[in-house]
Amino acid sequence: MDDSRILVVGSYGQLGKALMARFPKATGVDRDQLDITDLKALEAFDWHKYDFLLNAAAYTNVDGAETADGRKAAWMINAEAVANLAKIAAEHKLTMVHISSDYVFDGTQSPHKETEPLAPLSVYGQTKAAGDLLVTTAPKHYVIRTSWLIGDGPNFVRTMMGLANKNISPKVVDDQVGRLTFTKTLVDGIEELLASKAEYGIYNLSNDGAEASWSEITKTIFKEMGRDKLTVNGTTTEEYFKGKPEAAPRPLKSTLDLTKIRAAGLKPADWRVDLSEYVKEEMSAGA
Ligand SMILES: NC(=O)c1ccc[n+]([C@@H]2O[C@H](COP(=O)([O-])OP(=O)(O)OC[C@H]3O[C@@H](n4cnc5c(N)ncnc54)[C@H](OP(=O)(O)O)[C@@H]3O)[C@@H](O)[C@H]2O)c1
Repeated sequence: MDDSRILVVGSYGQLGKALMARFPKATGVDRDQLDITDLKALEAFDWHKYDFLLNAAAYTNVDGAETADGRKAAWMINAEAVANLAKIAAEHKLTMVHISSDYVFDGTQSPHKETEPLAPLSVYGQTKAAGDLLVTTAPKHYVIRTSWLIGDGPNFVRTMMGLANKNISPKVVDDQVGRLTFTKTLVDGIEELLASKAEYGIYNLSNDGAEASWSEITKTIFKEMGRDKLTVNGTTTEEYFKGKPEAAPRPLKSTLDLTKIRAAGLKPADWRVDLSEYVKEEMSAGA
């Protein structure tokens, strides 16, 4: 696969940065160079240089999407812009990779298979579900559903490490379970699908390993930091979000079934292994 034929949109985000690190000859653009909601800008762009369109751009503020302005932005970026990109991909015969989320489900089934009916709880989840359907208008597409993404950007692990550094014992929900996904693993999967020319369609892709609650994950983070004396107080989602009407509803079960991506050749690492490495890297970078 020729990296120079790859265009990454949303290249400043967590996933975008990891894709640019993996494919150094790829072109990366973010909102300042190519706003994917601007159909005229997309139509004026020189697509002939590319065979692969990797969409790492998204509106990812789950609670923000519940506000009046956020709802519009989320629909615009996660659905309308995806329709624009899929149209371009079809016209220019590009292979389109699009990233989705377990938030397209209501979190009652576990693990989630690729074939589970869409049943999003939140505005963010609704816009992502719409995006999944729109991508299929590009004949050559991969929709990759991931969960709980951790990379170079604001994320749960960094938030918890920040609290530990301030000696704060946090209250963390213990009834939402799933697995972290490190951008490294997500990029491994994207590379594998493209390089092996896997069948187009929807693929789940997260780290592997035993599912855990946010509270258990926090305890593991603190242990990796050598801060296991800090208490992690478990609480329910209902209790945690009481008095926060602006908070989006979240699925309780986020674990993705990995049978299909394993059959495509990927062996995702246990999230605990990648977490251990991530915490070490963050600490050596001064976190
Ligand atoms: N984060 C998670 O836990 C999680 C879980 C499951 C699935 N996902 C999915 O994984 C993908 C990558 O997530 P991420 O965490 O890497 O996202 P991220 O860090 O929020 O990055 C998204 C990037 O897209 C850019 N962007 C937004 N609107 C744009 C536009 N109109 N035109 C061009 N670029 C635009 C953002 O720029 P601005 O910062 O300027 O908005 C940002 O640089 C997304 O599809 C997300 O829905 C994420």
